Amino acid sequence: MKITVIGTGYVGLVSGAVFADWGHDVVCLDVDESKIQNIKNGVMPIYEEGLQELVNKVQNVEKRFLATTDYKMAVEHGELLFICVGTPGNQSGAADLSYVFQVSESIGKFMNSTDYKVIITKSTVPVGTHNKVKEYIKKGAGDKKIEFSVASNPEFLREGTSIYDANNTDRVVIGSDSNKALDMLENLYKHLNAPIVKTDLASAELIKYAANAFLATKISFINEISQICERTGADVVSVAQGMGLDKRIGSKFLNAGIGYGGSCFPKDVEALYRTSSENFYDFRLLRGVMDANERQKYYFIEKIFSKYNSNLSGLTFGVLGAAFKNGTDDVRKSVALEVIKLLRGSGAQIKLYDPAAMDTAKGALGNEYIEYAKQANDVFIGSDAIVILTEWPEFVSLNYESLVGKLKSKVIFDGRNLLDPEGMKEMGVEYYPIGRHNAI
Ligand code: UGA
Repeated sequence: MKITVIGTGYVGLVSGAVFADWGHDVVCLDVDESKIQNIKNGVMPIYEEGLQELVNKVQNVEKRFLATTDYKMAVEHGELLFICVGTPGNQSGAADLSYVFQVSESIGKFMNSTDYKVIITKSTVPVGTHNKVKEYIKKGAGDKKIEFSVASNPEFLREGTSIYDANNTDRVVIGSDSNKALDMLENLYKHLNAPIVKTDLASAELIKYAANAFLATKISFINEISQICERTGADVVSVAQGMGLDKRIGSKFLNAGIGYGGSCFPKDVEALYRTSSENFYDFRLLRGVMDANERQKYYFIEKIFSKYNSNLSGLTFGVLGAAFKNGTDDVRKSVALEVIKLLRGSGAQIKLYDPAAMDTAKGALGNEYIEYAKQANDVFIGSDAIVILTEWPEFVSLNYESLVGKLKSKVIFDGRNLLDPEGMKEMGVEYYPIGRHNAI
């Protein structure tokens, strides 16, 4: 099939490369010249496991992938046109759809009247957006007669494992009011060993928000349980294990921590709440999910403040983790960064290490009161305490036995429950995890 992907962020670039890997002819369009030039040169705009190798293979070896800024060529190329541009949250919490609409209008402008095309939104857009996408395509076409259908095909990729996820998805969701469009999309995905949910446009759009909001609810729920654990002597890791073994609940997304972050959950939960308000419904549960998430990081910071009698000035914290989660260099809405900023703002000095996000963290935090370490071990040297903020597996396997000896005092605040409380006790570490009964 001939496929055009518009937008070369996480979703667009990964989807484009994966479609090409499946044997389709893909054109990836972006308006950012330097981004396209970099992709052509094999330099990826994002850090994603296996992406560089995959793009190199489909672009240079198999030659089924072309990155371009040429809108006309890109629109003319695809039978399927995927809109994969960003939908950032705006000031009021709603999704900013201006990029989606600009793209829709441009598609209408560059479409030929002889072709039939399916225009698919992969970007996360509020329920009902398809109506506007249709209007903007028609607006772009002006008096020209064009034949097209719109569809919604939400994406469930996780950053860090997105190529694996694209090939091993739990399900494919496609929504359209055109059977022809549904069939074409079904053809694209039918080789995957996954159920395909074919539905109407509004349901497909809502599935994406409902799924992300539900996962965020799970995280906030276990974070709230961690608070009960701290107050009753129960252990949140055991509680999560005992809950998660019930197949109706499932064990994933039950890791208590400092709260969810990233470019998706915070924005999508907020946007769903907005959508419900706009439809005269007060989705109170979601309000609670957002409040719990906000509170959770302060509970963690509170542990640090109370250990030092609310005076952090002159202290140095060795910080492990800046990315919003492991496996990525992304620091957008990273709770780790928020915690770092709060510590720094309270007069502390930071020594920071993250396996992937050093450059992005530097871009977001600058150099004031922050030293960027070359390796994890370095943040221990001469620091007053260690603060773990991202769930990188690398941090579990550090040689704590020898490293804690390099600290001024053996204190670890573990915002991701990565370490074993018993082991820490044996090493004489004053250990502060989240909701665990060995917590001090
Ligand atoms: C999320 C969804 O998981 C994807 O299915 C979806 O496609 C994507 O958003 C999107 O809408 O594009 P992602 O933002 O990459 O993916 O990250 P997650 O792995 O879901 O983690 C989100 C946040 O929750 C991270 O800050 C992570 O540290 C936190 N988290 C996750 C926890 O605090 N506890 C957990 O048990 C799991």
